[in-house]
Amino acid sequence: MAEFKRSEHITAGEIDRNNIPRHIAIILDGNGRWAKEQGKPRTFGHAKGAEAFRTLSYYCQSLGINYLTVYAFSTENWKRSKLEVNTIMKILGQYLQIGIDEMIEDQIKMRIFGDVSVLSKDLQALVQKTNELDDQIQIEDGFQANLCINYGGRDEIVRAARRYAEEVKNGTRENDLSEEEFSGYLYSAGIPDPELLIRPGGEKRLSNFLLWQCAYSEFYYTDTLWPEFTPAELDKAIIAYQKRDRRFGGVKEDSKHG
Ligand code: IPE
Ligand code: IPE
Ligand code: MG
Repeated sequence: MAEFKRSEHITAGEIDRNNIPRHIAIILDGNGRWAKEQGKPRTFGHAKGAEAFRTLSYYCQSLGINYLTVYAFSTENWKRSKLEVNTIMKILGQYLQIGIDEMIEDQIKMRIFGDVSVLSKDLQALVQKTNELDDQIQIEDGFQANLCINYGGRDEIVRAARRYAEEVKNGTRENDLSEEEFSGYLYSAGIPDPELLIRPGGEKRLSNFLLWQCAYSEFYYTDTLWPEFTPAELDKAIIAYQKRDRRFGGVKEDSKHG
């Protein structure tokens, strides 16, 4: 059972409760550098990072956020050493298992975004189990964590395009795709686009994350490394988001005639 669950941990003093993003996406970056700072191997940072994710999931749930999508392993991260990749996969497996054990009790849905077909059989079985449990959680307006494993934004779009093309080819669809319908071919089908995208770890790039879905997301960057990203850090990001002027290409009502 997670330590962080009770409302007394809520620090959201300055947050406007009427303007909470429905969907927050986070690039979990900085695990390796954090471990180095501690004089520990990079793998130590990944274990700590997984804990930070768990804590933040419960916090998001308590704030009434509906979706938290986190980038845990990209299609490019296979370039890392075998030891690092294997350790990350092991940690992901452990956390999926914990998730499976607690999902029903905590009423948390979990989804995996990414090409899982190349993961180990054990991990694939855990992903399958997670999806089956999801179907048993029927809460309206609840909380869902989306874990991106072997995920790439370009890969996701190409897969969607291939699926659509196949349907047109075999005659089950017209060649009349709208933007909204295209979203339905992505891993995030049925989920609103993230209003807020957070990147800890100091870098200011997307690194192939949610390329389609972030078309109008507000970006928030911080130098805080992911293992040190606490609920208070999330508060800061949400407060910054709430100060943004989201125009979506239009102009503000009061400056329309000037
Ligand atoms: C993010 O932390 C986790 C993964 C990409 C798997 P990093 O491992 O990229 O940590 P840094 O950026 O090297 O510090
Ligand atoms: C992005 O972090 C991918 C994940 C957090 C899973 P990286 O550390 O792989 O990104 P770059 O290499 O700094 O762009
Ligand atoms: Mg990194």
